[in-house]
Amino acid sequence: MDMEKMVAYAKQHGFVFQGSELYGGLANTWDYGPLGALMKNRVKALWWQRFIQEDLRTVGLDSSILMNPAVWKASGHIDGFNDPLIDCKACRARHRADHLIESFDASLHADGLTPEALDAIIKEKKIPCSSCGKHDFTPVRQFNLMFKTAQGVLDAQSQAIYLRPETAQGIFVNVKNIQRALRLKVPFGIGQIGKSFRNEITPGNFIFRTREFEQMELEFFCKPGDEKRWFSHYKNASKQFLLDLGIKEDNIQLRDHDATELSHYSDATTDIDFRYPWGFDELWGIASRTDFDLKQHETHSGEDLRLRDPETNETYLPYVIEPSLGVERLFLALLFDAYKEETLEDGETRINLALHPAVAPYSVAVFPLIKKYHGEAAQALASTLSKSIELVYDDTGKIGKRYRRQDAIGTPFAITVDDETLSNQTVTLRERDTMAQSRVNVKDLPELLRQKTAF
Ligand code: GAP
Repeated sequence: MDMEKMVAYAKQHGFVFQGSELYGGLANTWDYGPLGALMKNRVKALWWQRFIQEDLRTVGLDSSILMNPAVWKASGHIDGFNDPLIDCKACRARHRADHLIESFDASLHADGLTPEALDAIIKEKKIPCSSCGKHDFTPVRQFNLMFKTAQGVLDAQSQAIYLRPETAQGIFVNVKNIQRALRLKVPFGIGQIGKSFRNEITPGNFIFRTREFEQMELEFFCKPGDEKRWFSHYKNASKQFLLDLGIKEDNIQLRDHDATELSHYSDATTDIDFRYPWGFDELWGIASRTDFDLKQHETHSGEDLRLRDPETNETYLPYVIEPSLGVERLFLALLFDAYKEETLEDGETRINLALHPAVAPYSVAVFPLIKKYHGEAAQALASTLSKSIELVYDDTGKIGKRYRRQDAIGTPFAITVDDETLSNQTVTLRERDTMAQSRVNVKDLPELLRQKTAF
């Protein structure tokens, strides 16, 4: 499954459309269609269930996208959230210098190097422009990724503000409020899901790198000295979440950042990379952020952000472990991991999107065997079941075709209403992966489906 085919598949089945397509599109923006919206909501709900609901040490938050610019000064984003930009003088193509180097020779490691070091590699290796093939570049310079906008109706009074480039800072600036309001004791975590924005130099690879995206971030606050234990805990817990979602172990790997790659706030970071069509690439970043952020916010705000230790009564700035995951990157990984083209025993082929039932857009499809005879009963059953489960109703075409359509969008179960349903209140329940069919009593369906689609 290559990327071009995935983009076409996602469009054809209503997962993802090009943004503003009617007007020729807006580069690298994507709209989530009915199936994409359902699946994205499921991805977010499952993350929340695992990392907030089921972990009694963590709580949730929904902070605003627009924040006082002083936040970004303190966090280091205004001064340091840059990517190295280089222009080709011949064709005017714009590149991220580290990506230009790494896509020229994958054995070269360029992430986090200074502009001077990147210039030197590009010159020494005579790296060509990936658009026109010439080697005629401007020097590498730093480009700030923050999206700037203005707040206020009158020009003279408007204030420059930024769209947040990460959700994390909304958590850091609220930590004292949350700790007090909920009487939390270290160690505890605060998580949130929300949009972030980055003026990426080279967005691309479909929804992998975009300028508008959603993050699922958790900041876990622990006692200084305990951070290694929690770092290891979250590396394992994050990997386990992916495996529980059904992602194949072969398709993920953990990769530690070396010193040149570390962000300005981190003393250790491990990425969980997924095997995308172009190779292993970052899905989830797990960072040890020390007390960098809270210290910066203390200095810049003048507020004491230390917390009291419940055991020793001492006060300190807690250390932070941060697992940070992109919704769209997980969405894309799930699609690639699940997509299969199979040849069946009768020689027919089918697409089987073998998603975990908890993450599939629809949990179940409901069909009348013959619309004329069974349509009314099937519709009544669909209305009842739709109160507790996300389903799709389909009464067009041969039953085999209807099964294929659902297999291709990952619907794990299909219910067929037939003559027997009318006489004895049973239906056929078909399973997507095995295609096995069984007879089930209508009254048992809600509980059975709840169990079969649980996470
Ligand atoms: N708060 C830490 C932070 O934002 P990051 O490694 O820059 O760290 C975390 O981003 C995650 O957000 C990434 O692992 C990725 O899943 C997602 N992400 C980052 N930039 C993205 C982009 N331009 N498009 C889509 N997802 C992105």
